[in-house]
Amino acid sequence: MKSVWEVRCDGQFLTAALAEQGVILDQRCNGSGRCRRCRVTLLSGRWLVEDREYPIAEPMEVLACRCRLLSPSGTVMVPEDSLTETTGHTLASWHAAPLPATGETVIGIDLGTTTIAAAKLQHGRIVAEAGAFNRQNRYGDNVISRIVHAGKNPAALAELTAAAIETINELLQQLGTGSVARIAISGNTVMALLLHGMDPSAIGAAPFLPPCRTFPVKPAASLALAAPPDVPVLTLPCISGYLGGDILAGWRETGLRPGEMLADLGTNCEILFCTSRGIFGTTAAAGPAFEGAAIACGRRAVPGAISHIAADGSLTVIGNETPRGICGSGMIDFLAVWRATGRLTEFGRLDPPAPTAGIAPGVTLSESDIEQLLKAKAAISAGIQVLEEHCGETASRLKLAGGFARYLEPDSAKQIGMLPDRTIEIVGNTSLSGALRLAAEPELLPQLEAMSDEPTEVLLNTEPGFEDAFIDGLLLP
Ligand code: FES
Repeated sequence: MKSVWEVRCDGQFLTAALAEQGVILDQRCNGSGRCRRCRVTLLSGRWLVEDREYPIAEPMEVLACRCRLLSPSGTVMVPEDSLTETTGHTLASWHAAPLPATGETVIGIDLGTTTIAAAKLQHGRIVAEAGAFNRQNRYGDNVISRIVHAGKNPAALAELTAAAIETINELLQQLGTGSVARIAISGNTVMALLLHGMDPSAIGAAPFLPPCRTFPVKPAASLALAAPPDVPVLTLPCISGYLGGDILAGWRETGLRPGEMLADLGTNCEILFCTSRGIFGTTAAAGPAFEGAAIACGRRAVPGAISHIAADGSLTVIGNETPRGICGSGMIDFLAVWRATGRLTEFGRLDPPAPTAGIAPGVTLSESDIEQLLKAKAAISAGIQVLEEHCGETASRLKLAGGFARYLEPDSAKQIGMLPDRTIEIVGNTSLSGALRLAAEPELLPQLEAMSDEPTEVLLNTEPGFEDAFIDGLLLP
């Protein structure tokens, strides 16, 4: 992609002006000026940056989300690092039953709040995969902010639907859809509703009921997907307002047995616990930190991301590249290693005090980043603990699903108190494998719909021990 772009004055922020030309900047803080990921260099023109006017005489680095063009036209240089990530070679991985080797080519999509992953299946083998940050991120980094935006008016709802479809279409174009027989999509309930253009507002208030939990099979054209118009698109059914098709897919893929718990470690951490009295489920709002968003040097688990930090400080970087950021598993190792070596206090403060923790040249974590990580780990640990308390049983095995869980070092997660001391099994992106399985075997849909009726939902905020468990979870043992 070329790096110098000409824009015209139309009053909007530079991020939006560039987006119209197909240049999608990384806007993970939704244009609030905090993440500093949308850096560009102004080359010419007269600009309003924050509240000051600048005629550009020499190149000037700015945040695109904080500046508007005042002159009729201007030019801007966009570094590759400021573009939203669209690479993903590490997503289609799971420990589940082999996928069906039918003669058809199908596509499965894991529609996450923060990231979207897609893979193409041919004869039981993954032949292509792609991933990107969900372009809905510009409307907020969690499902609640998406619900709030969608509820503003029909145009806002349409924006969210279009943003998800745009991202999916980009992935479909990368995968190629020429011979595709079917597409299946798995996501949390809010994502599924938005995909179908439905207002999820009812989920935002008690009794948190979605307008529907199952979705009709639709032709690709009716969802504006970039695929042959008649290709059927299936959507995994949802369990409740906050337990979606993604965790249902994980349940189907892993075949939970009594005593086993499945946690999908996404922005919205969904948990199912198979007990002697049936299946119980809950959701913990972990936020997007472990998926690389809301953290200044955060990245998805893609080449260039630090995925591990060893006790001696040595780093593992995905793809053996020069480190350009840190992904969720690396952040968990960071908390464990820096706490064990006394460089972090139990409150997550740097010791000795410093503005940031240097991990690699150009890769740092600030105390406010660390605060986000502690909130995410507290949400996950409190969710697991309170669900067990509600059920009066303890899980013997904990299966971890989700893209970032793939690289997770279980001992580090236990050390920082994010996970209990149980047998941990990393099962990978079961939402994506479940979508692929449904795409290959559409006759599974009624079975999935029947499963979606089974779990009993436990609402964490009404559980007496949740607040204390969350507050305790903010500390580093
Ligand atoms: S989107 Fe511009 S600073 Fe975050």
